[in-house]
Amino acid sequence: MTLALMCGLSFAGKSTFAAQLASELGADLISLDLINVERGLHGGQGIPVEEWAETNRLANDRAQDSLDRGRHVVVDDTGSPRFIRDRWRSVAEAHGAPFAIVWVRIDAALQRERVLANRSEQERPDVIDAVLAEHAAAFESPVDEAPIVIDARATRDPEQLRVTARAVLAATNS
Ligand SMILES: Nc1ncnc2c1ncn2[C@@H]1O[C@H](COP(=O)(O)OP(=O)(O)O)[C@@H](O)[C@H]1O
Ligand SMILES: [Mg+2]
Repeated sequence: MTLALMCGLSFAGKSTFAAQLASELGADLISLDLINVERGLHGGQGIPVEEWAETNRLANDRAQDSLDRGRHVVVDDTGSPRFIRDRWRSVAEAHGAPFAIVWVRIDAALQRERVLANRSEQERPDVIDAVLAEHAAAFESPVDEAPIVIDARATRDPEQLRVTARAVLAATNS
């Protein structure tokens, strides 16, 4: 089994891609946003740090259950602070599972375009500007962590999906 962690800014297309990747791999999909919703919290409005810690703890527990049952896991989160990625890497290592970071990259202009389009179409929950700004400023690039990199425009591309699924399965602990 493999643990794949999504990484990237809001509106990059992480959730769009993570759902397809989980389906392609036959993996369990663990969404931090959905755990927040289950807990009555709404990430786009900003969530207190202690609530994030609890959501991460629940996500970690679920991932460990899945790995224990021999399932691949795709974690849909922003994976943006380094310490969070390090924690997921340790979870994978403790289970002897290969670990892959799937980084969906988006530039500021396209992100703005998607945020504004979504505010009129309301396809998904909004993320308020203060949270977007805070997240962009705090984002720690995973460039030194051998990420699998995907362009934000390619998150619905079937060939990108196949290539990424293969790369995730080929990941090894190093
Ligand atoms: N390849 C794409 N082309 C156009 N729009 C996309 C693409 N991927 C995602 N989107 C749209 O962009 C928005 C953000 O996608 P989402 O997967 O929710 O991002 P994230 O999980 O990274 O915040 C959604 O409205 C989604 O429909
Ligand atoms: Mg998402």
